[in-house]
Formats: sequence, C-alpha cells, structure tokens
Amino acid sequence: MEKLLVKGGRRLEGAIRVGGAKNAILPSLAAVLIDKSGDEIVLGNVPRIRDVLLMVEILRSLGATVAWEGRSLVIHTRDLHNFAIPEQLMREMRSSVFLMGALLARLGQVRISHPGGCAIGPRPIDLHLKGLGALGVQIREQHGYIYATCRRLMGTDVHLDYPSVGATENILMASIYARGVTVIHNAAKEPEIVDLQNLLVAMGARIRGAGTDQIRIEGVSQLHGVEYAVIPDRIAAGTLMMATAATGGDVLLEEIIPAHLESVTAKLREAGAQVREENGRLRVKGLERPRAVDTLRTLPYPGFPTDLQAPMMALLVRGSGTSVIMENVFDSRFKHVDELRRMGSQITVDGRTAVVKGVPNLTGATVTASDLRAGAALVLAGLAAEGETVIEGVQHIDRGYENLEGDLAQLGADIRRVNETG
Ligand code: UD1
Repeated sequence: MEKLLVKGGRRLEGAIRVGGAKNAILPSLAAVLIDKSGDEIVLGNVPRIRDVLLMVEILRSLGATVAWEGRSLVIHTRDLHNFAIPEQLMREMRSSVFLMGALLARLGQVRISHPGGCAIGPRPIDLHLKGLGALGVQIREQHGYIYATCRRLMGTDVHLDYPSVGATENILMASIYARGVTVIHNAAKEPEIVDLQNLLVAMGARIRGAGTDQIRIEGVSQLHGVEYAVIPDRIAAGTLMMATAATGGDVLLEEIIPAHLESVTAKLREAGAQVREENGRLRVKGLERPRAVDTLRTLPYPGFPTDLQAPMMALLVRGSGTSVIMENVFDSRFKHVDELRRMGSQITVDGRTAVVKGVPNLTGATVTASDLRAGAALVLAGLAAEGETVIEGVQHIDRGYENLEGDLAQLGADIRRVNETG
C-alpha cells in the first residue's frame, strides 16, 4: 500500500513538460487492432501510466505483439487469435469497452464483460450498443457478458442521444471497413477524437469531421502501418495549471496545445491566475489566495472538462468568496468532497451542485483517493494546506498520471511516495 506525503506551503516554480494524453492513447491502442496488413505500427509520446500498461496486456492477450522502445510502442497485430477480452483486465479498466468497435471491424466478433459501475457512477453503455446496432451489429447479453457479432457492416446514419466520447470512438472504429458511408450525428468533439481520426487517416482510413458534431466515415477495404505520436494530455496539463494556481506559483507548461485548454484557462483567469501563451507554451502565475468563480459547469468539449472538476474544486476551496460547481457530465462525481472537508473545506452538495465557501487555510489530514481525478484534487489540496497531508489510494492516481509527484517535486513541492512501512 503506497501513500503520498505532501507538506504544504511551497510555491511551484519552473518549467515542466506534459506527456501524451491518456484519453488519446487508449482509443489509439484499440484502433491499431483494426489493421490487418501485418505492417508495423509505432505509437509515440506514450505515457507509462497504469491504464496503458493494462491496455498493452489486453492487446497481448488478443494476440498482438507490443514492445516498448523509449516512449514509443511498437505493435504488430497480424496474428490476432482471440475476440474475448479477459475479464480481469476488463474489470480493471472500464474504458476497454471501446475495443468493441475495433474488434468488430477486424474480426466480426467480440466478447466483453459488462463494464458495470465505477467510483464515478454507473457508466452505462447503451449509446455504444445502440450505435453499433444501427450499423448492423447483433448484440446478445448473457451471464454478465456482452457478445457482439457482425458480417460486413453497412454504413448508415447514427444519431447519438448524447455526445458520448467512448460511443463516438466505438462507432467510428466499427465503421472503418463498413460498406458505404457512416455519419455520426451529435458526435463528441473532444480533441482526443480528432487525434483518433488523424491516426486512422494516417493508416489509410477515410474520415472527416472529427472536432465537429458530425463525423463522416467512408468505408475502405484496408489499412496500413503508421508511425504516429499522440497529442499532449490536456487534463494532466490542466492539473498542473491548477496546482500552480493553488500554490500562488509561477510555472511554464511545455509541449502542450493551448487551444485544448481554453475553457480551463478562462476559469483560472476568473480565479485570479494570470495565464499567458508564450510560443505554444502556457505560463501560469497564481495569486496568494484564489478568487471565487461564477458557476462552473462541466460540459462536453469545448466546455469545462469534468475530469478537471475535482482539481478545480481543490483550488476554489481556498477562494475568497463562494463558488458554485455544477457537475453535468457524470451522476456522482463528488466523492472528493468529504475528503476535502476533512482538510477544513466548507462545501455543501445538493445533487449535481456543490457550493464551495472559500476558507483562507486548509489543514493537512489523512485522506483517501476514490478515483483518478479525485486523487489529483487531494494532492493539490495538500500542496496548499498547512502541515502534512497523507493521501491513500495512490493506485487510482497512477492510472492516469505518469509521475505526478515527480513533476510536482521538480517544481519545488515537498511530496514523496512511501509504502506502508515507509
Ligand atoms: C471519456 C473519458 C473520461 C471523461 C469522459 C467525459 C476516456 C478513456 N475517458 O469517458 O476521462 O471523463 O469521456 O469527458 O476517454 N453515457 C451513457 N450511455 C453511454 C455512454 C455514456 O449514459 O452509452 C453517459 C455516461 O454515464 C456519462 C456521460 O454519458 O454520464 C459521458 O460519458 P462519455 O462521454 O461516454 O465518457 P467516457 O467515454 O466513458
């Protein structure tokens, strides 16, 4: 059992590079399975996070060969022999659901275990199944498994009731070899979907429209190998921006795409931070004490990302004044609130709305991360708190941050990882 120990009160200063995006590499690792050519595929700028390691295990269990070369993954997918995703791995990584579309395109069949619930709510997959069904996929649910099979899919119009990121990716991947044209209406517009389109187009697919709410896929008969680097992680970047603001620090974020962070930049400015673009980098300077903000609503991109709601709350708990946060994307994503209260925050929650009454100081406490972003929020609160904060449940943080404590320590934070006896 590892823990993070944070001694608060240090300003973050310096420059830091942001790695590849978790939410881009995961669907990319599914997309490479679609290619039947046997060519080599090299994905670059890959973060070594737990979810990626799990996804690599899943690929190997299906018959792909995957090798690390520095920050790249070298992949061969010619000998896929398995269409059933191992239950244990599926359980550990819910997002493996988007392997459905890729395996249907490649093998015409897939078996997954039902993803069930997770710490941030029930996460249904009805939109995925409805979209795949519209393309002609037969779906059978039995004994906790979902079996999906198809012959060659037929391109069609798919209307999503909600712009789900995962459903958009799944339908996009399923339709790569479909006969004719598939159009996804009300598609999610996240930058990671644009990245997936770019990867697949570089592999020979015909797709356009990603980044808008309408994506058009013209079926092709084959793909080929590629060398492709995934985009930088806007959520990891946003977390570091908030950490900087929370400590009144001054940090330059390198190797990021500032346009992906516009909603975040706007809210941080409202909270009193200075955010300036310098040649494709972002310089963030925080105030001694942040300001409260008008209602912060999480929304699909280009709205404020739900994945940064918890870290932003960790900043606003010390705001001068009262902030209101509305979580519109997930049903129950306020698990960090009780933990932040243990550190002296004043937060009330009513359904999807949290009212945060800023206090001048937090105090260190022992707290537990219930999920990835809640964990990041607790680290941020610890950086700004008086005394020592002990964060348990570090394995959640490792799912999506390559080396959060290393990055923060490099910027001057007093943070270290210890094991139970440490
Ligand atoms: C992706 C991201 C995750 C982010 C989320 C929203 C990855 C690997 N994960 O997750 O970090 O928080 O987007 O930006 O990219 N929903 C349904 N039925 C469905 C699918 C989704 O009701 O079939 C609901 C979900 O319960 C949730 C909302 O739609 O309330 C958004 O989910 P979705 O956009 O699908 O998120 P994910 O793809 O799971």
